[in-house]
Amino acid sequence: MSTAQIGVIGGSGFYSFLDDAERVRVVTPFGEPSDDIMIGDVDGRRVAFLARHGQGHRFPPHRVNYRANLWALRSVGVRQIIAPCAVGSLRPDQGPGTVVVPDQVVDRTFGRAHTVYDEVGPVVHVSFADPYCPRGRGVLLESARTRIDRVVDGGTMVVINGPRFSSRAESQWHQGAGWHVVGMTGMPEASIARELALCFTTACLVTDHDAGVEGGPSVSHAEVMRVFADNIDRLKAVLRDAIGRLPAHEDDQSASCPCRRALDGQALPLT
Ligand code: ADE
Repeated sequence: MSTAQIGVIGGSGFYSFLDDAERVRVVTPFGEPSDDIMIGDVDGRRVAFLARHGQGHRFPPHRVNYRANLWALRSVGVRQIIAPCAVGSLRPDQGPGTVVVPDQVVDRTFGRAHTVYDEVGPVVHVSFADPYCPRGRGVLLESARTRIDRVVDGGTMVVINGPRFSSRAESQWHQGAGWHVVGMTGMPEASIARELALCFTTACLVTDHDAGVEGGPSVSHAEVMRVFADNIDRLKAVLRDAIGRLPAHEDDQSASCPCRRALDGQALPLT
């Protein structure tokens, strides 16, 4: 079976990334991932791509099998993941087209299978103080700055359950708390990645000003899709550039970031 060290989880409107890729079907202890994994080459690196919502956007954010997606990527060798997503901005000065590389996250989701430690153990209570891979963030920022006019280093993403957008009151609450962007898929994706000792970085493409930001119009599904489609080629170019800056081969011991040591030498559950 083909393997890859770098994984890309594509978000809304992001159904392909690799040309001439090999399709790999993976079954996981958590069921089926959103789609087959596509494995191909980018800049001399073996890359595994997975469409987060499946073909034709089959799975809304609260129905994505995040555990299966991350397990499947790990099982083909992936250790470093870049996972772009669409977000609404909670800041008047960070409008559509801005790319935010957050360094914090607030989880407001509910009812999603959020841990690999369901009925298996012993549990490892992984550290999540710093949810994103410091090295992945650095690489992504360097790449984004070469192609995107407005790039924001850091900030907090609040993840709502969706699939509806926020009310104005919810949005103003999120703004008042000092958070920067709001999305629907960032969690539990990031924390499950940490439970699997995977490096995980997200790149948030701002598609709208969320409801309540300066009393502007409410956000619509169509507008989010339109802005995402307008920016997708640039975002793909950023990802390709970032992939080229990551090490092509690296074992868990040689990786210098803390993500890989999240389990403190303990085995993954279910292996
Ligand atoms: N994804 C894109 N825009 C969003 C918004 N305003 N709220 C939640 N998720 C989003």
